[in-house]
Amino acid sequence: MSDGKKKTEATRLASSGRPHQRPSHPVTYPPERASTILFPTYEDFTATEREFFYGRFGTRTHRAFEASIADLEGAAHVYLTPSGLAAVTLCLLAFAEPGSHILVTDSAYDPVRGYCDRFLKRMRVETEYYDPHIAGGIAGLVRDNTAAILAESPGSLTFEIQDIPAIAAAAANAGVPLLVDNTWAASVYFKPLAHGATVSIQAATKYIGGHSDCLLGTIAVNDPSAERKIGNCLRQIGSNASADDVWLAHRGLRTLSARLPVHEANGIALANWLEAREEVVCVMHPALESHPDHALWQRDFTGATGLFGFELPPCSEVQLAAFCNALEHFGMGYSWGGFESLCIPVPVHKYRTVLPRPAPGSERGPLMRIHAGLESADDLILDLERAFAAFAAAG
Ligand SMILES: Cc1ncc(COP(=O)(O)O)c(C=O)c1O
Repeated sequence: MSDGKKKTEATRLASSGRPHQRPSHPVTYPPERASTILFPTYEDFTATEREFFYGRFGTRTHRAFEASIADLEGAAHVYLTPSGLAAVTLCLLAFAEPGSHILVTDSAYDPVRGYCDRFLKRMRVETEYYDPHIAGGIAGLVRDNTAAILAESPGSLTFEIQDIPAIAAAAANAGVPLLVDNTWAASVYFKPLAHGATVSIQAATKYIGGHSDCLLGTIAVNDPSAERKIGNCLRQIGSNASADDVWLAHRGLRTLSARLPVHEANGIALANWLEAREEVVCVMHPALESHPDHALWQRDFTGATGLFGFELPPCSEVQLAAFCNALEHFGMGYSWGGFESLCIPVPVHKYRTVLPRPAPGSERGPLMRIHAGLESADDLILDLERAFAAFAAAG
């Protein structure tokens, strides 16, 4: 089959962005590290078309990975940033002007709120948080000076699914770029650009890297004016992604299509098991029928990854500690998307203004975030069983 469009995504993930150098080449471009790039002649040095001219603008390692991400996202241009957070913040910076207004979902990854409320505020950019379920109603919040809309679906920690096509239609109508943090779906199970977003952002740190050992952000865009703004912002700021991390992410991308179905199956198995436990107040997993946005998830997504939440009953800190400390296979640590399972309490109540959530106490229990890794689901369930036994014993 010679037409690249006919290849399945698994095939394209395995084969895109290869060097194709004659007479031979490695399968994935190795880390080509450089600050200085030498030009053998004056003519080469002064040529107008120089693909590589300074390491900060990337090397062949970067171009190869960018080509793979462009293929995955259906994008004409891809930019890389040193972390997923930098991909979000630099995109917002690219569009925001002093005196402008931006719309950010209340369910955004919480450090993004810190950036908006402190850094952008100092630049006289006003951030307005909106209900993640706003859908086409976002049109009512758009002002003459609205510079960008940021969506994240499912939302961080509370897993609301946003109606991206409806938000995209309203944004396009108002001429405002829509940026989507699509890290959860890894741009395999949801394609923001195909659903009308201007920019698709990912923390490649998570599923793409897949091994919890690199930090990287990707920004994918088709619109030429948005592409210019983002490219200029990154160049002027001096942002650069390390060739080592880009190589690790490219290596991770090769196995993404094999890993994601295991994360999905384990995540759903754990979520179903938790839902059947009488101690559990609720499970927040978009693939479960009980999820309020399940129908939207079914309409727009082609699968689920391994990250979801659940609420424990109101409990003491001693009980919460007993639960966490009884876990053997689930690690306690930040980030997600790697091969290993994680389980942590998440203080959502600190990060919501539109949909405030009470702090854990006598009314509400702690919210937990699970990342289902690649271990056996049976072992993970036994681990949770131990944790619930420890929780009860400490009560
Ligand atoms: C949804 C989402 N976006 C962005 C990021 C930031 O990624 P990084 O850790 O690479 O800065 C995270 C990290 O947890 C995240 O969960």
